[in-house]
Amino acid sequence: MTPFDAVIDRRDSGCNKWNRYEADVLPMWVADMDFPACAPILDALRARIDHGVLGYGMAQARLRRAIVAHLDRQYGWRVAPEAVIPLPGVVPGFNLALRATCAPGAGVVVQTPVYPPMLKAPDNWGLRRIDAPLAAEGEVEPAAFRAALAAAGQGAFLLCNPHNPTGRVFRREELETMAEAALSAGVAIVSDDIHCDLLFDGRRHIPVASLSPEVGARTITLMSAGKTWNIAGLNAA
Ligand SMILES: Cc1ncc(COP(=O)(O)O)c(C=O)c1O
Repeated sequence: MTPFDAVIDRRDSGCNKWNRYEADVLPMWVADMDFPACAPILDALRARIDHGVLGYGMAQARLRRAIVAHLDRQYGWRVAPEAVIPLPGVVPGFNLALRATCAPGAGVVVQTPVYPPMLKAPDNWGLRRIDAPLAAEGEVEPAAFRAALAAAGQGAFLLCNPHNPTGRVFRREELETMAEAALSAGVAIVSDDIHCDLLFDGRRHIPVASLSPEVGARTITLMSAGKTWNIAGLNAA
C-alpha cells in the first residue's frame, strides 16, 4: 500500500476543497491532493510544535541560504539571499508585485485562458487588464502579445510559467521573445512559477528572470513549495 492508496477523510480538518460542495460531489476544482505531506516536512513541523512557543518568526539567514542553493541546483539560477522575500502565498505575492510595479491606471498583460486569480488581480488595484490570448496548443502569438504590451503603459506582464491551465512549459526562445518585448515596452515582468517543479519528460524549468541580468532586474518571481509538496495550507511562498 502506498500513501496514494489510503482514503483520508478531510472534511473535519477545515478543508476548503471537501467542504465547498455537497457531500456526494467529488471535488476536483483545486490543485490540492488527498495524501499526507512527506515525512521530513511532517517531522520538521512536529519539532516546531514541540518547541511550544509560537511567537513571531522571521526568515533566518540559513533559510535564505537553503532557498538560493535550491534555485541554483534546480535551475542553474544565481539569486542573492537578500533578494528572497517570504510571503504568505503566491496569490498575495503577485497582487503585491502589481501594486509595487505598476503606475496608477496602467495595464497588466495576461495570457488567456489563465488561472482566475490572475484575471482578477489588476482590478484589485484599479489597473487595466489586457488579454493576450494564447494560440492553439498554448503557443504565444507574438503580434497580439506585442500589441498588448504597447497598450500597458508603465504596467506589468503577469506571466504564468509553467502555464495554468494549458500546462505549457514555455521554451527558452519563447521566454526570450516575451522578456525582450516586455523590456523594450518598458513593462515589468511578474512571473508566477508555482508549478516550476512539476515538469515531465525530462524538461527543466527556466525562470524568466534567469535569462539575463537585465531581465532579472525587471522581474519579480513568485515560487512556493505548495504544489510540489502538497503543502498549500502552510501559506508560505
Ligand atoms: C498558477 C497558480 N498560481 C498560484 C496558485 C496559488 O498560490 P498560493 O496558494 O501560494 O497563493 C495556484 C493554485 O492552484 C496556481 O495554479
